[in-house]
Amino acid sequence: MSLAQRTTLTQFLIEQRRRFPSASGDFNALVLDVALACKAIARSVAFGALGGVLGAQSGSINVQGEEQKKLDVISNELFVRANEWGGHLAGMASEEMDEPYNIPSIYPRGKYLLVFDPLDGSSNIDVNVSVGSIFSILRAPQDVIDSGRDVTAADFLQPGCQQLAAGYALYGPSTMLVLTVGTGVHGFTLDPNLGEFFLSHPDIRVPEDTQEFAINASNSRFWEPPVKRYVDECLAGKTGPRGKDFNMRWIASMVAEAHRILMRGGVFLYPRDTKDPSKPGRLRLLYEANPVGFIMEQAGGRASTGREPILTVQPTSLHQRIGLVFGSKNEVERIERYHREP
Ligand code: AHG
Ligand code: MN
Ligand code: MN
Ligand code: MN
Repeated sequence: MSLAQRTTLTQFLIEQRRRFPSASGDFNALVLDVALACKAIARSVAFGALGGVLGAQSGSINVQGEEQKKLDVISNELFVRANEWGGHLAGMASEEMDEPYNIPSIYPRGKYLLVFDPLDGSSNIDVNVSVGSIFSILRAPQDVIDSGRDVTAADFLQPGCQQLAAGYALYGPSTMLVLTVGTGVHGFTLDPNLGEFFLSHPDIRVPEDTQEFAINASNSRFWEPPVKRYVDECLAGKTGPRGKDFNMRWIASMVAEAHRILMRGGVFLYPRDTKDPSKPGRLRLLYEANPVGFIMEQAGGRASTGREPILTVQPTSLHQRIGLVFGSKNEVERIERYHREP
């Protein structure tokens, strides 16, 4: 495709904004800063062992109790540096920062909050399997905007339905940025020569039906009965109650699973289980479940705790974990039905 026929991310954002003549352009500038952070992370990831970026950050444990990888820390830093100066943000929160990040006083403060998982699937870095970054943009509470005060965790505790935008970058065989600003889901591919994202997948739709599911089966002894039932029925194949064979995938990078599901359908489960009573699920509500949930719903899919839509959950803490099921609508609805049935 020649350059003249291509749409850059910048052009796409400007054309979207024309639908809202009152918009100031701050929001677009913010998304472009996020995209720049993702491009910088993509470069770091691409250098791999040659860049000296693989392996663990020695002795460093994040608030989740996970050992941080060097690239978790580098990616977090790139997100912070790319986004703190622009004047669009009132604050940030990240998987890799225990507390919310306040915009330093040398920079102006703005009206948005940025929440992110700087590197998702970081257990896959050292084995050169796809990883990604996930982000969510919220509006800061009005008193934060009016006063310019420091942000607190409470300012971020907004249900997913209040997200203004969400997206992810996938550092796979090619680097992609997938974005929703509430007008469908659109995918951009990074042209590595120009360092520019171009619209390659406009209006992504998740097929409503699927024969592919994704779950970490090593946890099966901890699953609740509705999840056991769902997976057993998939495994039973053609002669079982579903009357068809299923295929299974598990990458252990949620962002890569979400992308596969956007491209060809499927269902992903990391459900609430009984493994560790202090952890009601594995994935984090604010920077994993909510952004992916918003994207799925905007693409005609569905995202749920198994019991209620993920986007309606009122968060209670910044790093809260939650059971998550998302993907092809009819499968997610079936799983929700199994949770309601005795
Ligand atoms: P992160 O690397 O941001 O901590 O997230 C890892 C998550 C998610 O990407 C993936 O689906 C899941 O952890 C994998 O969990 P298992 O190790 O249980 O398979
Ligand atoms: Mn982690
Ligand atoms: Mn993650
Ligand atoms: Mn992460």
